[in-house]
Amino acid sequence: MGKVLTIHGGVPLKGKVTVRGAKNLVPKAMVAALLGDCPSVLRNVPEIKDVAVVTSLLKIHGVTVTKDEATGDLTMDPSGTKTATSNEIDTHAGDSRIPILFCGPLLHSLGEALIPNLGGCKIGDRPIDFHLDVLRHFGAEIDKAGPFGTTIRAPHGLTGAKISLPYPSVGATEQVLLTAVRAKGTTELENAAVEPEILDLISLLQKMGALITVGRDRVIRVTGVEKLKGYNHKALPDRNEAASWASAALVTKGDIFVEGAIQRNLTSFLHTYRQIGGEFEVTDDGIRFFHPGGELKPLILETDVHPGFMTDWQQPLVVALTQASGVSIIHETVYENRFGFTTALVEMGARVQLHSECLGAIPCRFGQRNFKHSAVITGPTPLTGADIDIPDLRGGFSHLIAALAAEGTSHVTGIELINRGYEKFMEKLTGLGARVEMNELASSL
Ligand code: EPZ
Repeated sequence: MGKVLTIHGGVPLKGKVTVRGAKNLVPKAMVAALLGDCPSVLRNVPEIKDVAVVTSLLKIHGVTVTKDEATGDLTMDPSGTKTATSNEIDTHAGDSRIPILFCGPLLHSLGEALIPNLGGCKIGDRPIDFHLDVLRHFGAEIDKAGPFGTTIRAPHGLTGAKISLPYPSVGATEQVLLTAVRAKGTTELENAAVEPEILDLISLLQKMGALITVGRDRVIRVTGVEKLKGYNHKALPDRNEAASWASAALVTKGDIFVEGAIQRNLTSFLHTYRQIGGEFEVTDDGIRFFHPGGELKPLILETDVHPGFMTDWQQPLVVALTQASGVSIIHETVYENRFGFTTALVEMGARVQLHSECLGAIPCRFGQRNFKHSAVITGPTPLTGADIDIPDLRGGFSHLIAALAAEGTSHVTGIELINRGYEKFMEKLTGLGARVEMNELASSL
């Protein structure tokens, strides 16, 4: 039986939350432990669903994963790495996109990898063609015909290559890093992603003994080594969670100190936040976000790869723009279908129109192809409580903050999706003064 979250709106969120390791780094760091010849220790690990999924994926591949109950630190010992059965892997099909990143490490240690059908948020087609092309460049053979997913083999081992990505994909860059570090010879990757999570993964691999350097113009060079040791690493804090709570402070006219937020990983977000009328104060321990009073201002915004405005910040910020005085335009250039969550906002009273034109300057892969990837938001409009079913992780968080700002009561289902990327969000909400209750579905509606 599912759960339903009842939210009584109209309460400004005030207080402190702590963000821990990034959802978009921690699972990849766990996969990297497979590359070492001795145990690795990962610290600052959040209690989120994606960590649980990767923990069980590592265990079915013979890795011993131990959790320090006091700190949450994970020790991962790859000495028993083995092939997992298709049934075992199938149980994980549809859980997340991380299994694709097991390829490189498993090909190095076992010569074969079996990848289930992938899951992840429904915010676009999300193909894996870049990943498969990259693996072919290293000499892997791809067999998609299997009933349980894709089988990849490297009968002659893996050899470094010169690779240029069609788009600076985070996942495909991680695929190259996790494969090239133990491949024969040198790999040069052009048009690479350089998100802070990528640079943190590179730091971790360097700790293991890898030879990696990041050049100018998105070029990463790796010289493969035969052996890597284990790492001891503290994961960088989750900048996407920090940006989400910042938007929550603005939308609810509140004041939230986000412990662990790091300014240099949020530069373009902070710039935009101040442009629309939000205020922030940076300290060594975190960042205070608050609504300084007065009207919020509209703006024209385009999402982009780092160091541009990140696509995962777009959805919570859209809720703030429904309260700005005037017309805002958002051009989503990273995913072709990331405005589905606005349907519920419109039902709550927001004015949002979607367009398939590229309403912005950044060249985009989705123009003139019937993808509603630009939004025109006219504000301010009062929001009223509604029954909402959460579509995806960031869309879901935006629905929570809309309901918290709205007049009246909302009933939110599909709430388990939030656990995928927001640690202890219920505790954090109540700690910030939100009036919320979680109930079993049948009884409350
Ligand atoms: C990572 O996804 C993040 N997820 C996403 O965060 C984030 O939005 C994204 O990077 C961009 O920053 C994790 O790290 C787990 P991509 P990823 O490969 O690696 C296309 C969140 O809410 N593409 O950079 O899957 C793809 O369709 C999530 O926390 C191909 O066409 O993203 C998209 O349009 C959502 N073929 C674009 O590239 C490929 O083989 C960017 O995708 C791979 C990607």
